[in-house]
Amino acid sequence: MQTGRFVDLIHKKKEGRPLDEQEIQDMIRQYVAGEIPDYQMSAMLMAICFQGMNDEELTALTIAMRDSGDVADLSDISGVKVDKHSTGGVGDKTTLITGPLVAACGVPVAKMSGRGLGFTGGTLDKLESIPGFRIDLSEDEFLGAVRSAGISVIGQTGNLAPADKMLYALRDVTGTVESIPLIASSIMSKKLAAGSDKILLDVTTGSGAFIKDIEQSRELARRMVAIGKGAGRETVAMLTSMDEPLGHAIGNNLEVKEAIETLKGNGPEDLREVCLALAGMMLALGREGLSYEDGKKLAEEALDSGAAYEKFTAMVEGQGGDLSYIEDPGKFVQSACHRELAARGDGYISHMDTEGIGITAGILGAGRETKESEIDYSAGIIMRKKLGDKVQRGDVIATLHSASEEKLDRAEGYMEKCYTLSDHEPEPLKLIVDIIC
Ligand code: URA
Repeated sequence: MQTGRFVDLIHKKKEGRPLDEQEIQDMIRQYVAGEIPDYQMSAMLMAICFQGMNDEELTALTIAMRDSGDVADLSDISGVKVDKHSTGGVGDKTTLITGPLVAACGVPVAKMSGRGLGFTGGTLDKLESIPGFRIDLSEDEFLGAVRSAGISVIGQTGNLAPADKMLYALRDVTGTVESIPLIASSIMSKKLAAGSDKILLDVTTGSGAFIKDIEQSRELARRMVAIGKGAGRETVAMLTSMDEPLGHAIGNNLEVKEAIETLKGNGPEDLREVCLALAGMMLALGREGLSYEDGKKLAEEALDSGAAYEKFTAMVEGQGGDLSYIEDPGKFVQSACHRELAARGDGYISHMDTEGIGITAGILGAGRETKESEIDYSAGIIMRKKLGDKVQRGDVIATLHSASEEKLDRAEGYMEKCYTLSDHEPEPLKLIVDIIC
């Protein structure tokens, strides 16, 4: 395709006619090569936003994005490798728990994770709050760590899906982020490039998810599962609730400490339930003939026997982390300033603005305000009350942790608006909302 003819393709999409595989491949190759200017690609992205893409177009787009850079080769690691990806949430520390659970049951975990995005936290930032922990292993070190410990979690290596990096940056400034086909292709291009044999998608839904509407979340899950199938990778999606923060802790080392407690069998019930479900599904994907229910039972045994905790310590040790912090979490650096947020009335906690709570954690210092900002690993929130709890005026709802009183003042004002009290007890949350395969 000549650059000059790209306008014909924009017309085609604008009129709602599907693009063919060759057209999509040429478009991505030429865009990455700098032969299609940003203004034309912006018009194409907007046309996709309005007209959507069918499953064939979407699979072709995702594969072209995957093939725009390196594709990880995990064939040196024996066994079926299963990846897990969460679409993001608040207090979502599931990778720190499900990874060791799955590895303890004999399925290798070779995972590339991301950093916090917007109001959501990122696994890499949480792991880096463990002194010494390295997320930048070389390829050989990464494969070696998986072979010896059965698990390694690192940052994205090399030149993975560069087309996604370019398109994401363009979407960010052209009002085209919120498009289900564009989100689905963005996530799946990176997952396919990361090299695992099978993929479990944790598609969060609710007030603390990027996509808050359940039907839209279901559609995102369905489209990503279809891409996985089209690309020959078995993919399952679990829709999980993000209508309140997962567990009690939000913020990097606070979440690591909660993950350690959970691996020792003392974690919050909601976090334990979601982690066992995710691990159960990863095991069912990784072990021929194992059902999801049996996978959950195996995961539960690995949790209760301490085998998963052992795997976590092996991972930390294998990546240079200081084990004394895992053995004695009291050693983690603690915030200089704390404040208790008191209930301003009586009633049941009937709604949480979970995104707002994530933003509050960011104000406290747990996230980045700009790309260059340094994270304060000890900053964050401990939720003392959960959805459905009955409170009286003055009861402590949450404890805020930060480096300064000024940040606490700002965060307190914000957090005050993030929960609603009502006279009626709300329906209990369904944590595993749906499974799509
Ligand atoms: N996460 C991604 O990787 N891409 C998107 O488009 C949205 C969330």
